[in-house]
Amino acid sequence: MRHKSTQLLNKPRVFPVYISKSKTLTHVKPRKDSDLSKKAQVEEMFDNIAHRYDFLNHFLSVGIDNWWRKVTINSLKESNPKRILDVATGTGDLAFEALKRLKPDSIVGLDLSEGMLSKARVKAKDRNIAKIEFVKGDSERIIFDDQEFDAVTVAFGVRNFENLEQGLAEIYRVMRPGARVAILEFSKPAKFPIKQLYNFYFKYILPVFGRLVSKDATAYQYLPESVQAFPEGDAFINILTKTGFTSCKNRPLTFGICSLYTAVK
Ligand SMILES: C[S@@+](CC[C@H](N)C(=O)[O-])C[C@H]1O[C@@H](n2cnc3c(N)ncnc32)[C@H](O)[C@@H]1O
Repeated sequence: MRHKSTQLLNKPRVFPVYISKSKTLTHVKPRKDSDLSKKAQVEEMFDNIAHRYDFLNHFLSVGIDNWWRKVTINSLKESNPKRILDVATGTGDLAFEALKRLKPDSIVGLDLSEGMLSKARVKAKDRNIAKIEFVKGDSERIIFDDQEFDAVTVAFGVRNFENLEQGLAEIYRVMRPGARVAILEFSKPAKFPIKQLYNFYFKYILPVFGRLVSKDATAYQYLPESVQAFPEGDAFINILTKTGFTSCKNRPLTFGICSLYTAVK
């Protein structure tokens, strides 16, 4: 049950965020009052919050997101990739981390949102970085040839795909045989008292604070809703396996608030 009374339906929902467990990821969209596809809504939402995204990201995660990205990139070190695709690159932080730690020949950062990409391009220019190309495009219809990349990375992106299986199949297609994928995504801690603290923070504090700072009424309500709907852990490993990946592994990070999934084509 999402709402208990019709009176609630007419009020702007600030909190709490009611999450229906039966909703699939495709149906969890940023706006309830819009007929636009999830993809169009996600693009619009990230365009809207791009100006505050980096600040909110680091602030709301108390900086732990930087460590999660480091761990993600370090998982690819042994394979020494030369050409990397960072899917759903946003403002580029994972791509910058990959450049620093893996020293590849080139990186492509792909994203739907021009607002997020333009922030990434400014950061690259400020840091004098020419090896990363930021390209607008859809991860569910990747504009690159088969087997073009030695590694693919995704941080906090797959949860936003309209069609998760399609996006993963596209990632698989552009990887060369033997290439590795590293996917970082939020998950739900299962143990007391982190589970209770996390639920309180994610449902009551984050949506209110996120709304005030980003000025986007729904983006930080969509975040916990999409995390709730995401098929995490073994369910995600099963999807990776069905896509064709092998050696699929799940490493929970920070009490399971986040999970790093790695796999090989
Ligand atoms: C939460 S942000 C993550 C950005 C970045 N990877 C990071 O670690 O901060 C999610 C990004 O995924 C992008 N995105 C969502 N669906 C996408 C799709 N189908 N194709 C490309 N980008 C997508 C959004 O535009 C947004 O920039």
